[in-house]
Amino acid sequence: MKFATTALAGMATFLALTSPAFAKNKFPYCTGSTYEVSNKNCAKFDFKDVHTKCVETSNCTTFYDITNLPKQSINAHTTKMAELITNVFENGNTKMGYAYVEALGDGRGYTCGYIGFTTGTNDALAVINQYTKRKPKNALSKYVPELERISKLKFCDTKRNNTSGLSGFPKAWSTTACKDPVFVQTQLDVGNAMYLEPALQYAKSVNVTSNLGKAIFYDTIINHGWQYVEPLINLPRILQLTGPHRKHESEKSYLGRFLQTRRQLMCCYPDDVWPPAADRVADLQRLLQNWKRNKDLKHPVTLKIYGVTVKGTENMSYDTAECKHEPKGWKLPAAKMLPVPDTCPNKLFEATQ
Ligand SMILES: *[C@@H]1O[C@H](CO)[C@@H](O)[C@H](O)[C@H]1NC(C)=O
Ligand SMILES: *[C@@H]1O[C@H](CO)[C@@H](O)[C@H](O)[C@H]1NC(C)=O
Ligand SMILES: *[C@@H]1O[C@H](CO)[C@@H](O)[C@H](O)[C@H]1NC(C)=O
Ligand SMILES: *[C@@H]1O[C@H](CO)[C@@H](O)[C@H](O)[C@H]1NC(C)=O
Ligand SMILES: *[C@@H]1O[C@H](CO)[C@@H](O)[C@H](O)[C@H]1NC(C)=O
Repeated sequence: MKFATTALAGMATFLALTSPAFAKNKFPYCTGSTYEVSNKNCAKFDFKDVHTKCVETSNCTTFYDITNLPKQSINAHTTKMAELITNVFENGNTKMGYAYVEALGDGRGYTCGYIGFTTGTNDALAVINQYTKRKPKNALSKYVPELERISKLKFCDTKRNNTSGLSGFPKAWSTTACKDPVFVQTQLDVGNAMYLEPALQYAKSVNVTSNLGKAIFYDTIINHGWQYVEPLINLPRILQLTGPHRKHESEKSYLGRFLQTRRQLMCCYPDDVWPPAADRVADLQRLLQNWKRNKDLKHPVTLKIYGVTVKGTENMSYDTAECKHEPKGWKLPAAKMLPVPDTCPNKLFEATQ
């Protein structure tokens, strides 16, 4: 997970310090009786110990076991719409950030690729391991030993942010993403197994089956995760605090309560990174309001606050933001289903055989 808003959040802090008039409107989507930081809105999240609490892993995965949640399918167009919508929130546009790499200083080492895999939380390693299975000779495999060393540290160990043994890594990641369609497809396949499939299962578990509902769950799982090591902010927490999908409640109404809880969580979180990101939820709420038009995601959708329209006809095969020249004959290979990383042994994270 990465936050395109991090830099802006720092800016807001600066403005708030220098100009008291700004302090009030520091986070414009966290105002009004439903979203302001108040005991009424925030007590349920219990964010008192948020900066001191870290949950350690207790088995071979950092994710909940969801093998018992029901599955549901998604069509190719909806997948594309969901991925593009989330890309707008993460990267500000519909250019897929496969070659993106940045050290954000958030304790996670390098953040890379279209959904922000990181070197500090094992998922960049999972991508490279899967890629190395497909392409044994590549420019990234030499980082595997160092990434494995990091992956063996305690999950709460702050040294997971260490990038000093990864010299040249950013360039190797971007160059590979700009040159090899197999690497791009590997990122997509890992992202689907790690986030899209689980999002669909969680959605089905509360009877959310519309295409818009699937996209909303996908964006939520990318943003909040579903790892038990992050119990205060993850998707299961939002589901629990939203409460059950009531017997005769429409899907639109349930999704409305779900997004309201999600936005309150972001606004109540005591840092400068989550509250400014509440704007993405405001954009999703706007889509939900026009349920009839948007529920199937058949028509283009406009994300008003971000100022971008997602049509569904965009070409997602190449990172036109980060890469210079698209190689001739560029074409992604067919998608491959990979295992969801929620079981022990962990089939997605296990090393190259
Ligand atoms: C990693 O985190 C430690 C402790 O928070 C900090 O002192 C150090 O500067 C960080 N290193 C990097 C490379 O971000
Ligand atoms: C950071 O990683 C390098 C390379 O593996 C290692 O030599 C160094 O001791 C690590 N630093 C810390 C603070 O763990
Ligand atoms: C699921 O939702 C649909 C439509 O919203 C409704 O017809 C159906 O009864 C619901 N099923 C359950 C098990 O809640
Ligand atoms: C996207 O562009 C690539 C080459 O740039 C082309 O091979 C592919 O067919 C295009 N895909 C779509 C869906 O237009
Ligand atoms: C791993 O531990 C977590 C936390 O106790 C638990 O929720 C999860 O189901 C466990 N996963 C497996 C595969 O045992």
